[in-house]
Amino acid sequence: MLDAEYWNKKFEVDEYIYTKDVNRFVKEFGTEIIANRPVGKMIDLAGGEGRNSVWFAEHGWQAEIIDFSRAALTKALALAEERGVADKYFAHVADATGFESVLTPVDVGLIAYLQVSNEDLFDALDTLIENIKPGGYLLGVWHARENLTEGFGGPQDLNILPTASEVREFLESQPVQIEVLENREGQIQTREGLKPSTTLVLRAKHL
Ligand SMILES: C[S@@+](CC[C@H](N)C(=O)[O-])C[C@H]1O[C@@H](n2cnc3c(N)ncnc32)[C@H](O)[C@@H]1O
Repeated sequence: MLDAEYWNKKFEVDEYIYTKDVNRFVKEFGTEIIANRPVGKMIDLAGGEGRNSVWFAEHGWQAEIIDFSRAALTKALALAEERGVADKYFAHVADATGFESVLTPVDVGLIAYLQVSNEDLFDALDTLIENIKPGGYLLGVWHARENLTEGFGGPQDLNILPTASEVREFLESQPVQIEVLENREGQIQTREGLKPSTTLVLRAKHL
C-alpha cells in the first residue's frame, strides 16, 4: 500500500503532478450541482494538490481538503492563495478512513482517485457519507480496473482499483441513492500518444 511518505515524496516537486485544473468529471457534476443549489460547503477527501476543491472555492463555496500528505496540502493552500480563495479554504492532515471535518455537514463530498484497498475505500466513503447533508451529493472518480486489460493509465494493481459493481454493492448499505455509477470512455496522453482509458464515475444523492 502507498503510505503518506510515498505521497509526500511524490508531491515534493514544484510542478503540480495532477495539474491545477479541475478534473473533467468533477467539473461536469460540479457545474450541474452549483447551478442548482445556493453556494454551499464541500469536502475534498484525499484531495491532493487541491485542483478540485479550489475550483469549488472559486465558485464561492467553502471547501475543506483532507489528505494524509502534508506536501500535498502545502501545495493546495498555495493554489488557493494564488486563486484568491484562501479565506474560503480549509486544509487538514488526516487519514481518509476516519477523519473529522470542520465544515460538516456539507453539500458535496468528493473522493477522486483515492487508490487504496476496497476495505479502506469503503471506510473512507462511510465517513464521508456521514458528513454529507441529506439532499447533498457524493461524487467519486477512479481509474477503472478495466484499464489493466483493455486500456491505459492508472495504477497497475487491481487491489486498489474498485469496480462499479463493488462500489454499488457497498453503497446499497448506505443512505444514498445512486444517480450515476458507470465507466466513461476517454483518452490519456502516453509517451506513444493518446491511448484509450476508462474512468469510473459516481454521483449519488444523500437521502
Ligand atoms: C492520485 S492522488 C489524487 C489527488 C486528488 N484527489 C486529485 O484528483 O488530484 C491520491 C491522493 O490520495 C491521498 N491519499 C492516499 N491514501 C490516503 C489515505 N489513506 N488518507 C488520506 N489521503 C490519502 C494521497 O496523499 C494523494 O494526495
